[in-house]
Amino acid sequence: MSKIVILTGAGISAESGLGTFRAENGLWAQHRVEDVATPEGFARDPKLVVDFYNARRAQAADAAPNEGHMALARLEAEYDGEVVLVTQNVDDLHEKAGMRRVIHMHGALSGALCGACDHRWDAPRVMAPGDACPACGRGTARPDIVWFGEMPYHMDEIFDHLAEADVFAAVGTSGNVYPAAGFVAEARRFGARTIEFNLERSAVGNLFEDYREGSASWTLPRWVDEMLGHAAPR
Ligand code: APR
Repeated sequence: MSKIVILTGAGISAESGLGTFRAENGLWAQHRVEDVATPEGFARDPKLVVDFYNARRAQAADAAPNEGHMALARLEAEYDGEVVLVTQNVDDLHEKAGMRRVIHMHGALSGALCGACDHRWDAPRVMAPGDACPACGRGTARPDIVWFGEMPYHMDEIFDHLAEADVFAAVGTSGNVYPAAGFVAEARRFGARTIEFNLERSAVGNLFEDYREGSASWTLPRWVDEMLGHAAPR
């Protein structure tokens, strides 16, 4: 059975109104990474960090999946092989689009994590610094987000999928952050065909055999039609 592994980044959610990171007015132009996306930043000022994720959680709650998310859900539902979606995004737009298998390698806004006992639970809509962990009772709740310097989640599973991929696609990611940026080289090592969907070539764009320029909400539905045999390959 053939397997398609898809990696998504902030670009697929851009047309749903959620900001990307490295665009001119992106999140990292508005906030310092070291302040809101590192364990050190959280230790220094937990309220700043918790408020940053509360705002992103509220924005994501109001966001709707776009045609790009819907296309990937259609591929998963109709493809006669296996579709595995790995996302760097922490929003739930793939789930809202009806996707069943979503691997959140950078965590999710919907999750809370205990910094003391590693217990995980559904995050409240608004988290407060010092919220108690429902398991151990200590005031060590934090967003269940993978920060810089921390190990992304599900890496063994992801590398197993890359080793079996017949097709590897990357959508809306700048290719600046590892290990995700290294997935295309890993998939190629095992003979996968590779394709990138972006407004412009990413930092690892040269490693992709195929490139579809444009917004994911436009390029993905057409690619999915091709993969499902509804349209002639380009
Ligand atoms: N369609 C397709 N691609 C798009 C669109 C769109 N409508 N809009 C923007 N893009 C592309 C941009 O060209 C860019 O290459 O999406 C990419 C977004 O890049 P980044 O902002 O760097 O986001 P991402 O690659 O997901 O960042 C990876 O970095 O800061 C960390 O943890 C954070 O998960 C994030 C990781």
